[in-house]
Amino acid sequence: MSKFFVTTPIYYVNDVPHIGHAYTTVAADVVARYWRTKIGQENVLFTVGTDEHGVKIAQSARKVGLTPKHYTDQIVPKFKKAWRDLKIDYDIFIRTTDQHHKKTVQEVLGKIYQKGYIYKATYEGLYCEGCERFLTDEDLEDGKCPLHPNKQPVYQKEKNYFFKLSSFKDYLLDIFEKDKVQIRPRARKKEIIGKLKKGLQDISFSRESVKWGIPLPWDKSQTAYVWIDALLNYYTATRSAKNKRFWPPDLHLVGKDILWFHTVIWCALLKAADINPPKSIFAHGFFTVNGQKMSKSLGNVIKPQDLVKQFGAEAARYLLLSEFPFGQDGDFSLKKMKTRYNAELANGLGNLTARIFMLAQKASLRPKPKKSKTLEKTYHRYLQKLDFYSLSKLLRSEIKNYNQYLDKTQPWKLLEEEKMNKLKKTLQYSSEGLYNIFLLLAPFMPKTTREIQTKLQKPTKIHLFPRK
Ligand code: MSP
Repeated sequence: MSKFFVTTPIYYVNDVPHIGHAYTTVAADVVARYWRTKIGQENVLFTVGTDEHGVKIAQSARKVGLTPKHYTDQIVPKFKKAWRDLKIDYDIFIRTTDQHHKKTVQEVLGKIYQKGYIYKATYEGLYCEGCERFLTDEDLEDGKCPLHPNKQPVYQKEKNYFFKLSSFKDYLLDIFEKDKVQIRPRARKKEIIGKLKKGLQDISFSRESVKWGIPLPWDKSQTAYVWIDALLNYYTATRSAKNKRFWPPDLHLVGKDILWFHTVIWCALLKAADINPPKSIFAHGFFTVNGQKMSKSLGNVIKPQDLVKQFGAEAARYLLLSEFPFGQDGDFSLKKMKTRYNAELANGLGNLTARIFMLAQKASLRPKPKKSKTLEKTYHRYLQKLDFYSLSKLLRSEIKNYNQYLDKTQPWKLLEEEKMNKLKKTLQYSSEGLYNIFLLLAPFMPKTTREIQTKLQKPTKIHLFPRK
C-alpha cells in the first residue's frame, strides 16, 4: 500500500458536536495514525469537515436570527475545538461552503448532466428534514422517519432534477458482490445487496424550494440536493495538485444510518461522472446512552468535552473505541466508562507502569526493551480490520499478566535482598512487556506512548491515569 486516504462523514452544523460525531472521528484518527506509522506521514490523507447547506441548517440559522453563513461560521469552530481537544490530527477540514468545494460540485454535476443522467420531473412525497432525505413508504414507521420519530415528515411537491440511479443497478451489484468496493462488516454488505436487488429508483438531485445550497450550473433556480453536495466533499479534498494522488479513498468511515448514501448513491454518482469509486466503506453501529436513545430532550447527550474533562483526551479515545466492537451496536455511559477507566487504566496500566519505573529508578537500571514480533503481527491484523475491541481485550490480558508477574516475583524484595542479577532480568522482562503494551496503544494514546518510550530509557517516578 503506497498511500492511504481515510475520511469521516462531514457533520451537520445544526448542532454542537456530541459523542456520535466523536466516535467516528476518533476511529478515523486512530486509523490515520496507524497508517502514518506504517507507510509514512506524507502518504496518508485524513479528512473531516462540516455539512453546511440544506433546509435543516437554514432553519436553525433562522431560529437564532442569523444568516445561514453567519450561523455556520459560529458552529464550525466548535467542531474544530472538539477535534483539537480529542487530539484529532486531520489533514484537511472541508466546509461545504468553501468556494473550492462549490467549484468541484458544479464541475462534477455539470459532467453528469452532460452525460445524460439527469432529467426534470416532479417530486411528490415525504421528506425528513432531520435526515435531509426523501422517504418512501417502506422507510416509514408509524408514518414517521424511524430516526426522527418526533419530527413530522414534510409533504413536498416540487419540480426537481432527477438522477438516473436506476440505470446503475447492475454496475453496483457487480462492484459490491465482487468486493471491487468493499462494504464492511460483512452483514452490512449483505443488507445493501439485498436492498439493491429489490429494485432501485431514480432520486431527486436538486431542490427548487431550498435556496441555501449550491446552484446547479445549468439551472441556477435550483440548488444541488444537500447529500449530493456533501458526498462530493471527499472528492474536493483531493483536487489540489498535491493531493490528487490520494484518489480514490481507501476507507470511508460512517455510521450505519448513512451507509446507503455512501455505497449505492455515492458509487453511482462517481460512475456517472467517470470517477473511480472508493475502495472500502465501513459502517459502525449505533449506540444508546444509559440504555436510551441519545437525545437533547432526555438530557443524556454526552459531549466530547465531557469525556476529555473527566478522563483526559488519550484515555477518552481509548475508552470510546474499546467499550463494544466497532461495527456493532452498543451502549455508553459515563459511569461505565469511569469504572473501566479505574479498573483498566488507573489500577491496571497505571499501576504496572508506576511499579516498573519506580523499581528501575531505585535500582538505577535502564532496561532495553525490544519489539515483540508476535504482538506486532496481531496489532497490524486488528487495526487493518478495525477490530479495536479485540485489540483492547489483548491489551487487558497483557496488562493483567504483567501485573501478576510482578506480584509473583516481588522484585522490590529482590532489591532489598540485593539480588541484582535476578532483579535485572525481572525488570528487563516486565519493561519489555510494558513497552509492547504501549506500542499497541500508540494510535489511541500517542502522547503517553511517546512519553513512556522516552522515559523508559532513563526511568524516573511516573504517575499515569490518576484514579477518578
Ligand atoms: N451530514 C451527514 C453526513 C454527510 S457525509 C457525506 C450526517 N451528518 S450528522 O451530523 O447527522 O452525522 C451523524 C454521524 O454521527 C453519522 O455517522 C451517525 O452515524 C453518527 N451518529 C449520530 N448519533 C449516533 C449514535 N447514537 N450512535 C452512533 N453513531 C451516531 O449524517
